[in-house]
Amino acid sequence: MNLQITPVTPNLKYVKGKLQFELVDILSIVRKLGTPVYIYSKSQIVENYKNYDEAFSGREHMICFAMKSNSNFEILKIIHRLGGGVDVTSGGEIYRAINAGIKPQKIVYAGVGKTEQEIEFAISKNIFMFNVESKDEVDVIEAKSKSKNKNTKIAVRINPEVRTKTHSYISTGEEGTKFGIPIQDAIEFFKYLKTKKFVTPVGLHFHIGSQITEIEPFLIATKKVVSLIPYINSLGIKISYLNIGGGLGIRYFNETPPSPKKLISTIIKHIPQQIKIICEPGRYIVGNSGILVSKVLYHKKVRTKNFLIIDASMTDLIRPAFYNAYHNIIPVKLPDKIQPMVKYDIVGPVCETSDFLGKQRMLPEIKNGEYVVIECTGAYGFSMSSNYNSRVRCAEVMVDKGRFYTIRDRETYHDLILKEKLTKDNV
Ligand code: LLP
Repeated sequence: MNLQITPVTPNLKYVKGKLQFELVDILSIVRKLGTPVYIYSKSQIVENYKNYDEAFSGREHMICFAMKSNSNFEILKIIHRLGGGVDVTSGGEIYRAINAGIKPQKIVYAGVGKTEQEIEFAISKNIFMFNVESKDEVDVIEAKSKSKNKNTKIAVRINPEVRTKTHSYISTGEEGTKFGIPIQDAIEFFKYLKTKKFVTPVGLHFHIGSQITEIEPFLIATKKVVSLIPYINSLGIKISYLNIGGGLGIRYFNETPPSPKKLISTIIKHIPQQIKIICEPGRYIVGNSGILVSKVLYHKKVRTKNFLIIDASMTDLIRPAFYNAYHNIIPVKLPDKIQPMVKYDIVGPVCETSDFLGKQRMLPEIKNGEYVVIECTGAYGFSMSSNYNSRVRCAEVMVDKGRFYTIRDRETYHDLILKEKLTKDNV
């Protein structure tokens, strides 16, 4: 029998048996633009941003959207209009952010492997702050700042060594990861910074991981890092900023993450009043604001398995293949009559056994040519997509109060070969 099919993504609703996203019929979008296609809800992005922003209720803070989660211009523009900045992780992200209208003074830059060129570029653009992760990196920032006769603000990324219940690939604040300065080496690191003339330490930063759905690890990390402040102050270094890293995890299946208000009100009590807080949510802002729509190409039955072969793959959404991540998958159109459910493995066309979007999913029978929605794919979906198997990357669409518009065209075959050289010898 038909089980109740309930979307996890807010703003995604069945109306007369057909899915609408922010009041737009999904079928009207796919008929016009084809599949696979990413669709984002503008009002959800705005709501999520405001939830975080308002959670600070009066405390001086800056929201720096982690643009690695989704760096589409239109999304960056929404963040910009809401007053947000960005957390970047490469020179390319700085370039992209500035071109989308983000002010350099709202850009913070983290990453263990910033190249000389990237550091030079960031300094020349006058970004707000570097989050530094090693002495070697500080040396390069010092040298580049000196050559430009500029003073560069930095925060030190501390690894607070806290355990998190998330996938090990996206846990960044445990002992032995490549990220940050181990907390026990922090004071010595600040002493080293005192020898630098063109680099000014003004803050502390931590980021303990992604898709964390409980307050405890954030709280432990905050307390540990804040406890360093008096020692750093006693070295004659004033700490004015605390960057608390990424945002909360979201509900993909049955997770019950706390609200930003609950998280922030809990940890803020432990942060001295005079310290300005920076935070870098990515997934929370865009994760449940986006869906991926795909067409069913074929059915295939092998022994006990029913494969639903769809036109989206790991090149469009790598999270299931990479982290065994769960994304709810539902049909765009509900069947007219009650019918038995079928257990499907939903897979893409790519030549890898890891190319699956969902395993053992109970769905009403879906025919070839019909559509499915892969839910909550607004974060680390398109931004991690690739051209593997020479597949073009898909279109992206924004829905906004009943209307929709393309925010990135589907790539073409020509785009795939644009950068390649065909030398005469090879012809
Ligand atoms: N700040 C820093 C320094 C980060 O490294 C990250 C994410 C964030 C902020 C944003 O974290 P969020 O608010 O989105 O949890 N590709 C993985 C996630 C990798 C996250 C890496 N860093 C996934 O698909 O789950």
